Amino acid sequence: MDNFTKLLNKYDLQVPRYTSYPTVPYWSDSPTPDEWVQSINTYMAKDKASWSMYIHIPFCETLCSFCGCNTSITRNKERGVGYVDVLLSEWNNYLSKVKSLPSKQLKQIHLGGGTPNFLSPASMESLLKPILDNCTIDKSEFEASIEVDPRRCTDEQLKKYVELGFNRISLGVQDFNIEVQKLINRVQSYESVEKVTQTSRDLGITSVNFDLIYGLPKQTMDLFKKTVEQTLKLKPERIALYSLAIVPWIKPSQRLFKDEDLPMGAEKRALYEYARKVLIAEGYIEIGMDHFALPEDSLAEAIQNHTLHRNFMGYTCKTSDVLLGLGVSSISETPDMFHQNEKVLTLYQEKVEQKQVPTLRGHKLTQDDIYYRKKVLQFMTELEVVIDDESQEQDIVSFLNEMISDGLVVVEDKKLKLTDKGHPFIRNACLVWDKRLRDKKPDAKTFSKSI
Ligand SMILES: C[S@@+](CC[C@H](N)C(=O)[O-])C[C@H]1O[C@@H](n2cnc3c(N)ncnc32)[C@H](O)[C@@H]1O
Ligand code: SF4
Repeated sequence: MDNFTKLLNKYDLQVPRYTSYPTVPYWSDSPTPDEWVQSINTYMAKDKASWSMYIHIPFCETLCSFCGCNTSITRNKERGVGYVDVLLSEWNNYLSKVKSLPSKQLKQIHLGGGTPNFLSPASMESLLKPILDNCTIDKSEFEASIEVDPRRCTDEQLKKYVELGFNRISLGVQDFNIEVQKLINRVQSYESVEKVTQTSRDLGITSVNFDLIYGLPKQTMDLFKKTVEQTLKLKPERIALYSLAIVPWIKPSQRLFKDEDLPMGAEKRALYEYARKVLIAEGYIEIGMDHFALPEDSLAEAIQNHTLHRNFMGYTCKTSDVLLGLGVSSISETPDMFHQNEKVLTLYQEKVEQKQVPTLRGHKLTQDDIYYRKKVLQFMTELEVVIDDESQEQDIVSFLNEMISDGLVVVEDKKLKLTDKGHPFIRNACLVWDKRLRDKKPDAKTFSKSI
């Protein structure tokens, strides 16, 4: 067994992805809906406060058998129409409770899912026009992005997105190989991805992202090389290269393929390492854990300017005081609170119709949480963190002693730094800042594996 395989075997453990700290399973002190609204009001009262918005559209016409997102499978387009009404009620409810929202700068809006292009152009307009017309936006720095499924994205939809102000688009690609696609119940041609990419660019979209996944069933190195090659032909400004997260306890449908179909451990990681090498050679810059961007893209600029940020939407270059999530299961955050909406569509809908904030759960951050959140964020974005004092250094050296002797992290210049060799193990190293998890071990099946 070579050295790298030994490391993979040793560190391929269940660890969080750190899109938040504390991570969701460790949220404990849930705010009441009133406390949540109060927290938004507090931070929006600040001079020059700014905010971002996330809207979740849960619908998909068919289920991809690997999917770990919160989805609702239906071909009935009318459901999208009714859902838009509920989203607008939720928005109006916030407007009545947070009076300062329209006057504060909205820096970023992101539509995710599910599949946002499940909505017709007319529904999209009836959702976004009243919202955006009511917001303060500086067009020179506004970022509006949308996730689309290229199998079902029309020119008419793309035109509507541009008309509404979208300047970024993210396409679910996953893999270009037909055999892999069949196994994940997601057959989509290269031509459909090419067409959406090209039309988006022709219409003035400045940044196209592709979501790719490594570790899919029957995804061999030879097949994946072709997927990378085809991706490079279209040269998206950004690429998210996700590790397939096997979380069957959340989505039993993932078990439609067999365990033995999945590349694991070293074989799986080799797919990422291959793509990483080729993408970097083609001029892409690696962003944090699993993202790549061309140097002109704002994500790459954020790395250089040390302004990269990470939240529930992944890596982003915009920071704001409040992230407000609308829609079923959406997560919001302020500097001292997390908040998640009901995950069951009917419950979410009922609460909104009763003019309630549709709280499922959340977390009021303690001073300790705020301190460690900063450390986790810094490590996940900059790959290094300042060590504050002697005792912290001692703790790091003792907690990470194996990773240090394996050459995966180093302690030098009063900083903890991830080495190049340690890159695949960033989540394992980040555990040192996860006070909550260190105080109380998670249940065996809480997180997906690190590789
Ligand atoms: C909401 S979907 C993207 C938009 C649209 N629904 C589509 O699939 O084209 C978000 C992305 O999450 C990623 N994803 C979903 N389930 C995953 C899993 N189990 N492991 C890794 N990535 C996953 C996929 O790359 C997917 O494109
Ligand atoms: S990958 Fe996208 S289209 Fe497929 S089920 Fe998940 S959210 Fe829906």
